[in-house]
Amino acid sequence: MACGIVGVVTRSGALRRRLGLIIRDSLKRLEYRGYDSVGFAIITAEGKLVVRKSKGMIDKVSRKLGFDEVDGLVGIGHTRWATHGVPSDVNAHPHTDCVGTIAVVHNGIIENYEELRDMLVRRGHRFVSNTDTEVVPHLMEEFKRSGLSTYEAFRRSVELLEGAYALAVIDVSTPDRIYFARGTSPLVIGIGDGFNFIASDIPAFLEYTRKILVLHDGELGYVTASRIHLERRSGDSWAPVDFSGRVRLVEWTVEMAMKGGYPHFMLKEIHEQPNAVASTLAGLEDQVGAVVDALVKAENIILVGAGTSYHASRLGALLLSNVAGKMASAIISSEASWHLKPVGEGDVVIAVSQSGETIDTLLAVREAKERGATTIALSNVVDSAIPRESDLAIYTRAGPEIGVAATKTFTTQVAVLAYLALRVAERLGSLGRGRVAEMIADLRRLPEVIASIIAIHEARARRVASRMVSCANAFYLGRGYALPIAMEGALKLKEIAYVHAEAYPAGESKHGPIALIEEGFPVVFTALGSHDGRLLRSNIEEMRARLAWTLAVAPATLQEVLRAVDVSFRMPPLTEAAAAVAYIVPHQLIAYYTAVRKGLDPDKPRNLAKTVTVV
Ligand code: G6P
Repeated sequence: MACGIVGVVTRSGALRRRLGLIIRDSLKRLEYRGYDSVGFAIITAEGKLVVRKSKGMIDKVSRKLGFDEVDGLVGIGHTRWATHGVPSDVNAHPHTDCVGTIAVVHNGIIENYEELRDMLVRRGHRFVSNTDTEVVPHLMEEFKRSGLSTYEAFRRSVELLEGAYALAVIDVSTPDRIYFARGTSPLVIGIGDGFNFIASDIPAFLEYTRKILVLHDGELGYVTASRIHLERRSGDSWAPVDFSGRVRLVEWTVEMAMKGGYPHFMLKEIHEQPNAVASTLAGLEDQVGAVVDALVKAENIILVGAGTSYHASRLGALLLSNVAGKMASAIISSEASWHLKPVGEGDVVIAVSQSGETIDTLLAVREAKERGATTIALSNVVDSAIPRESDLAIYTRAGPEIGVAATKTFTTQVAVLAYLALRVAERLGSLGRGRVAEMIADLRRLPEVIASIIAIHEARARRVASRMVSCANAFYLGRGYALPIAMEGALKLKEIAYVHAEAYPAGESKHGPIALIEEGFPVVFTALGSHDGRLLRSNIEEMRARLAWTLAVAPATLQEVLRAVDVSFRMPPLTEAAAAVAYIVPHQLIAYYTAVRKGLDPDKPRNLAKTVTVV
């Protein structure tokens, strides 16, 4: 996950819309790359640099700051996913030099920015943000002061940067062009008739042109309304690049492009989980201080959530109880008022909601607050209602989730809750130090672990789906941590593949559900660790004796489970916090491929909405 950048340069009349509006629309299409703050810089017909930027999401900020009213022939824009510096108005891009004539947008991380900033400060430059990006306009300003042209100053500045960057830069002294450079972070030029775009991704300009030039790592240059100039380093100097053979036409629609080549958003979002979890974990340490303090002090902790967020809440409650030794429980939001009566000062209520807008969860927050409890929001949407109304907020960084069935927001929610439980355990000494370190190290491995689970099991999930399509019902069974995962697996299959799926505690399955078992009835077991192995084995045998079709998602070390079932998903053995995040992935894939095999659209299941704002 990263930021999105865009630049447009046009000759008068070629695009027939105001530049502010064009940039706003383009940023909207890049919103999946981040959306905690947004801004643009446009050089007006009078040669003035207008910068408008703020914390918040595009639609709101653009209304507040009047993005659509600004016009000009060259401009750049940025939608941000904070890495260096909290989301705020000053940290929003573009960033400018001391005198406000050069504006820069950047996606990536400049690793040596502190060193560069110190050098520039010593030379009298004034910095106003906490971002790594701000060094770029000041570096250019510095080189220009020494007599270099804007382009030479840009090249010299880029030479000094270490890390990852996609940059777009405008300067009032050269109002007919946008300078750009690519170092690792993606950048593509959209070639038009009388205009050119530069952007992090194709959807930004697909409405205007399908002709593209994907930039290679290490390339830089500039675009005018009618020309592209491209260079790359050759020895000690820069040499022009002949790109004529690289220009191509894309056949995508805007929607297809936003799916990044995947047939559905849901599959894209399943595949984005390694990145989503990595971004979420990377941004956590800065956010959790006050939340951990509150949890350490809490008498009781109650987690509330709806749908998938309820399942994450259940995992959070189990982790807080078993890892951190706190009294913690999870309640479905719409049932919360029946359980919140005894809550008061000293208690903490964690509201889990990816959208931050689910009305049942919001009402639970209000009730908890009225009763004097401390409220903490866990959301994927900055400044949405639930975080706004809660005492404290903490954010997952999954990026926008478009598929109605939650996938990456679930794994990132669980990752945050697991991390919190471990930090609380550390503070309270409820686990040995070594054990906490081991579990945190496992969480940090999750991006690569999830990527390998997808790579290894996607084909198997597809095979399972080819049989699941003919099943009318399924059971999902598990014990302990595996139960909320089973519940989430059943919900996925139910909501997108319309298979009646029910989750049950494995030990309880003989008290009723087993009456339904007949030949070929699917029973999907989930196990996280060795403690469930022996017990689960008996439950599997009970089902097999009645000719059920048995499947298991379990660690490779749990041979007694994996060998006993018809289809086994062998998971990497992980400590419980990391397994609670990762073991849902095969279930997501089974549900997705079952829906697709049935000819259903997994992104838009019937009767469901992504965000539910009615009780
Ligand atoms: C709806 C969605 C689910 C989601 C639930 C809670 O039912 O279809 O995917 O889990 O709302 O949403 P929230 O935004 O509060 O996490």
